[in-house]
Amino acid sequence: MPALTPSDKALVPFVSVDHMMKLIHHIGVEEMMAGIADYIEADFKRWELFDKTPRVASHSEKGVIELMPTSDGDVYGFKYVNGHPSNTKAGLQTVTAFGLLAEVASGYPVLLSEMTLLTALRTAAMSALVARVLAPKNARCMAMIGNGTQSEFQSLAMKRIVGIEEVRLYDIDPAAIRKCAANLKGQGLRVTECTSAEDAMEGAEIITTCTADKQYATILTDNMVGSGVHINAIGGDCPGKTELAPAILHRSAIFVEYPEQTRIEGEIQQLAPDHPVTEFWQVLTGAAKGRTSDSQITLFDSVGFAVEDFSALRYVRDRIAGTDLFHPLDLLADPDDPRDLFGMLQRAKG
Ligand SMILES: NC(=O)c1ccc[n+]([C@@H]2O[C@H](COP(=O)([O-])OP(=O)(O)OC[C@H]3O[C@@H](n4cnc5c(N)ncnc54)[C@H](O)[C@@H]3O)[C@@H](O)[C@H]2O)c1
Repeated sequence: MPALTPSDKALVPFVSVDHMMKLIHHIGVEEMMAGIADYIEADFKRWELFDKTPRVASHSEKGVIELMPTSDGDVYGFKYVNGHPSNTKAGLQTVTAFGLLAEVASGYPVLLSEMTLLTALRTAAMSALVARVLAPKNARCMAMIGNGTQSEFQSLAMKRIVGIEEVRLYDIDPAAIRKCAANLKGQGLRVTECTSAEDAMEGAEIITTCTADKQYATILTDNMVGSGVHINAIGGDCPGKTELAPAILHRSAIFVEYPEQTRIEGEIQQLAPDHPVTEFWQVLTGAAKGRTSDSQITLFDSVGFAVEDFSALRYVRDRIAGTDLFHPLDLLADPDDPRDLFGMLQRAKG
């Protein structure tokens, strides 16, 4: 009687939301973001190996659904992610995601994972990695503008990786400020609830904008931004969806993940297509300069790039090895005779 159970290769390790939460608690949220930042740094330092393409975006009136593929030649990965700013009004998340890694040699998947939580961790890890390199030395205070899903992760990654001691919160929705302040209580940060974006920026060396609005919004105007700060702009990540007044961009040294994608989606969509920007991976390898003076404004025009998700999935794959924090998922049809898919189907009948 031929086996009706799939082979080991057909059973793909699946990390559910429950398993991801257990993994994060097992490692510690800050420790895990620091670990993911190390994996991102390692992958950015071998940038030229990767297949790179701007993500494939399907836009609608309400939001966007995107596929983010990449490969380093041995392993292929992609993330499915959405961005729907009005979802929260219906009790749904703005951003949800899942992702996959596959072996390039056989094309067989080797990991399927939830990535809603993982995206929050990897986005914060990336922000903090960039700030560690570009922000003023000894930055201790961050303005956190937009206190939704990403905000606690951003704050804790900046604490763990950059050494931030105080976070100043502002959101147009006071309930979001209260939620973020309550979640950050007892996490080793001084938390100040602010009444405006200007108030939040008082004394901050790092300014994070992390709002969700499907339009050209102006979260920061030119006169609000003094010299020497580092801006971590997260929320402008789609055509027609930005957070900064163009004048700020003209005063800043701009750092990006992958220019071909950022010019479509980032703050720099507001600038000429040849406006000079620096690719962050080149700062890591020493091929380009980072901050060049204390008075310079550095701007990380973050949109989120596929290699960061690949790094985060790679990290998860390494961490779940030898644990029971995954289900073996019966994902692939895998007949004993590889050309007899129909026979396998017939044998499974009644
Ligand atoms: N760059 C990246 O890699 C990356 C990754 C994930 C999410 N994002 C983007 O980051 C943004 C935030 O994501 P989220 O999951 O935290 O969304 P969210 O909806 O949970 O939170 C957004 C918050 O912004 C607030 N807000 C809206 N307009 C504001 C304004 N004018 N001033 C102050 N606050 C304002 C809202 O009240 C809300 O609390 C989204 O735009 C999302 O697309 C970017």
